[in-house]
Amino acid sequence: MIELRNISKIFNPGTPGEKIVIENLNLRVEPGDFLTIIGSNGAGKTTLFNLISGSLAPSSGEILIKGRPVTFEPEYRRAAHMGRIFQDPLAGTASNMTLEDNMMITSKKGFKWPVISLNRSMKKRFRDQVQGLNMGLENRMKENVSSLSGGQRQALTLLMTVSSNPDILLLDEHTAALDPRNAAMVMDQTTRFVTRQKLTTLMVTHNMGHAIEFGNRLIMMDGGRIIIDVQGDEKKELTKEKLIQMFSDIKKQEFETDEVLLSD
Ligand SMILES: Nc1ncnc2c1ncn2[C@@H]1O[C@H](COP(=O)(O)OP(=O)(O)OP(=O)(O)O)[C@@H](O)[C@H]1O
Ligand SMILES: [Mg+2]
Repeated sequence: MIELRNISKIFNPGTPGEKIVIENLNLRVEPGDFLTIIGSNGAGKTTLFNLISGSLAPSSGEILIKGRPVTFEPEYRRAAHMGRIFQDPLAGTASNMTLEDNMMITSKKGFKWPVISLNRSMKKRFRDQVQGLNMGLENRMKENVSSLSGGQRQALTLLMTVSSNPDILLLDEHTAALDPRNAAMVMDQTTRFVTRQKLTTLMVTHNMGHAIEFGNRLIMMDGGRIIIDVQGDEKKELTKEKLIQMFSDIKKQEFETDEVLLSD
């Protein structure tokens, strides 16, 4: 579904501010995979998503989506395949529009320009979809989205995003701004959609528990590289303790290699 071949991203190349943010990264994601991605601030996780979505072009390397080379294809050409949700619950919906109007403008199907009005069948379809969230929001279709809580808004954003049937779902810390109860609720909704629609999903999280609990594969990024990649039974049996141990073993190894190199 996604293939990154030897991808590097260098910001401000050839200047004193040059920064290698992604370094010779290789990643192959199979259809239906659910990857969780962890890594410290600045590890390159969001940049990785920008490269996959096409909002950034790599400095070198090749990107294929569904077997098609898209390395320099602009974001809007990939948009139909891609659903992306950000950390900020305010980012995915328009505050001063009603729930049903928000759903109308993001629904690709049946959208005609200029927007005239919602017809009855669209209203029913949106209401049924919102009812599927089981949050009682179907009774608030004519309220502005600004009246919803962060968790409710993020659940609505998720619903709108998956309704367009993306091939790839990119979740960039989409529960990080929510309290634990709402975060759990949005994660429930996420797994429900991912499982039902067999969505190929990449989820960045700073919550190690979530990274271990969800998905069939976990990767850890550090300094623009993938340093841990766990899947299958190894992923199922992963614990926080094991993950921390793996991380410190790698860091120790790197430190020792550096020492050897420096001692020459
Ligand atoms: N447009 C840019 N120009 C220069 N440097 C950038 C640019 N965008 C990102 N960076 C740098 O690239 C590095 C990786 O950033 P990125 O946003 O991918 O990290 P991240 O892993 O998503 O971190 P976080 O967990 O904080 O969201 C950071 O050091 C950041 O400052
Ligand atoms: Mg980020």
